[in-house]
Amino acid sequence: MGNNAPIGVFDSGVGGLSVLHEIRTLLPNESLLYVADSGHVPYGEKSPEFIRQRCRQIAAFLLAQGAKALVLACNTATVAGVAELRELYPQLPIVGMEPAVKPAAAATRSGVVGVLATTGTLKSAKFAALLDRFASDVRVITQPCPGLVERIEAGDLDSRETRALLHAFVAPLLAEGCDTLILGCTHYPFIKPLLRSLVPDSISLIDTGAAVARQLQRLLDERQLLARGPAQAGRFWSSGAPQQMQAVLPLLWAEPAEVKAF
Ligand code: DGL
Repeated sequence: MGNNAPIGVFDSGVGGLSVLHEIRTLLPNESLLYVADSGHVPYGEKSPEFIRQRCRQIAAFLLAQGAKALVLACNTATVAGVAELRELYPQLPIVGMEPAVKPAAAATRSGVVGVLATTGTLKSAKFAALLDRFASDVRVITQPCPGLVERIEAGDLDSRETRALLHAFVAPLLAEGCDTLILGCTHYPFIKPLLRSLVPDSISLIDTGAAVARQLQRLLDERQLLARGPAQAGRFWSSGAPQQMQAVLPLLWAEPAEVKAF
């Protein structure tokens, strides 16, 4: 596997582009492939078995395109599918992601942390284990956000409807005294400016995209797989209507790109 082989990144939709951005920033020499499984978004309400089957299919596709590493840029796909992918491809660097419970528990001063994530992530045994491990000294209040991912997929990052939906999810967390909010879904960094406008400045907003990029860098470095560059233009696929992703892409990704059908 050559150093200049690309990195394969995927999500249920466009949310993982928030992670792709962090990877591009930290590792500008790396060539990037991205699959949005928009034909099956949202993953948040789907069964773990369905999501595992999607993960297998997308991983096989990205490897067939020559990927030297995989990034599950999706918390929901990670809880359902990362263990199986690691069994299937034991030699491959695979990075998953999980809500930032550890840094949030360290950051809170009120001792109350809110987690915004999908139903699938919050219901998972992996998330329960994360709380046991890192949040025994703080109160954690979880908030599933059904409907929010669909608005972000549509490129609707700040309409009155999106604002009202987000307000309804966040207000109870503030009322409980949360001073730290975890963005536990990769779609949510795209509505961070809106969220910022809804909560006091003293509230910390924590997401994990940058940490995922650093973990990817570590794994590639260990295996001497870091690219020497220059990076090729990113390649994008969508399992939904490619023209739909193409239309919202300029809002979410700074480089020109053509979206192909997956
Ligand atoms: N972006 C995904 C995550 O990080 C999931 C969104 C969804 O499809 O429900 O959890």
